[in-house]
Amino acid sequence: MKPRRSVLSVPGHVEKMHLKAGQSNADVVMLDLEDSVPLDQKEIARSQVIRSLRTNDWKEKVVTVRINGLDTPYGYRDLLSVLEDAGNRVDAVVVPKVNTAGDIHFVDRMMTGIEMAGMLSRPIAIEASIETAQGLQNVREIAAASERTISLVFGIADYSASVGARLVSISGHGEKEAEIYPGHRWHFALSRIIMTAKANGLMVIDAPYGNFKDPDGLARSAAMACAIGCNGKWAIHPGQVEEINRVFTPSLEDIQLAVKVLDAIADASSHGRGAVAVEGRMVDQATARLAGQLYEQAKYLKLL
Ligand code: COA
Ligand code: MG
Repeated sequence: MKPRRSVLSVPGHVEKMHLKAGQSNADVVMLDLEDSVPLDQKEIARSQVIRSLRTNDWKEKVVTVRINGLDTPYGYRDLLSVLEDAGNRVDAVVVPKVNTAGDIHFVDRMMTGIEMAGMLSRPIAIEASIETAQGLQNVREIAAASERTISLVFGIADYSASVGARLVSISGHGEKEAEIYPGHRWHFALSRIIMTAKANGLMVIDAPYGNFKDPDGLARSAAMACAIGCNGKWAIHPGQVEEINRVFTPSLEDIQLAVKVLDAIADASSHGRGAVAVEGRMVDQATARLAGQLYEQAKYLKLL
C-alpha cells in the first residue's frame, strides 16, 4: 500500500486545480465532489472529475474521489457514475459523514456489483470519514464493516458542528488551542478513531489545517496528529504538502521496529502462534498489517 502522508483535496469543478494537484508532491490527490463544490455545480463537478480521471496523466499517483454523503440526492449517483465511467483510475472512494456500518455495506455492495458487471478491473478501496457524533459512536462497527476499508479520516469541521463545538477554522487543532480549551480539544475523538483504526489494521488521516497562510500552525497541527498515531493529513492547498510530507515520513526507528514486528510475526506463525511480544508489547495480525504497510511505504519512498 502506497503512503498517504499528504492528501491534497481538490474541488471537483475546478479543472485547472486537477492538473496542478497531479503535478504536486502530494501522495494522494482527492478529487472532491462534496463540500468544496457548491450545490448548483454538483453535476458539472461529477462530469469534470470523470473527465480528469480519464484524460489527465496521473502517473503513479494515488487518486481518490470523495463522493457526496449517502443522505443526499448526489451520493449514490456519484458512486455509480464515477466508478462505471472512470473506476479503473480510482484507487479509493472517500465516504463522508459515515454514520453507521450500513453506509459502508452499501458502498461495498455497490462496488461489488459494478465489479461483477465487468466494469472494474481491480478492487476499489474505501476510506471512511468520521465526522459526526453518530459516526464516532459507531466507529467500531464502521471500521470492521468491509474488507475494502483502508483508512478512517477525521473530519473536524463537520464533527465540530455535529457536537456543537466552537469552530476556529476547518482545523480544530493547532490554532488558538490554548485560548479555547486547555489541552487538545480533539484528543478524545481523534484518539478513539486512531485506536479503533489500528485495532483493525487501518490507517488514520487527520483533518486539514484550514488556515493555509499559517505555516507554523500547520507544522504544529501535523506534529500533534503524527505524535498520537495518524499516518497522514489532508491538505487543502498545494503549499501545505511539503511540510505534511516531512512530518509524516517514517523515521528510521519506525522502519526498524516494523521489520522486527514482521520477523516476529513470521516466526510466531511458523510455530502456530498469532500473537507475540516485541520489545515488551503485544503484536498480532493487525499490528503486522500496519507494520507491513509501513514497510511497503518506506520501500516506496526509497528509505530502505
Ligand atoms: N489543489 C490544487 N491546486 C490548488 C489548490 C488545491 N486544493 N488550492 C489552490 N490551488 C492552486 C490555485 O489554483 C493557484 O494556481 P495558479 O497559481 O496556477 O493560479 C495556486 O494553487 C495558488 O492558489 P492561491 O491563490 O494561493 O489560493 P486560492 O485563493 O486560489 O484558493 C482555496 C484558496 C482555499 C479556496 C483553495 O486552496 C481551495 O479551494 N482548496 C481546496 C478546498 C477543499 O478541497 N475543501 C474540501 C476539503 S476540507
Ligand atoms: Mg466534512
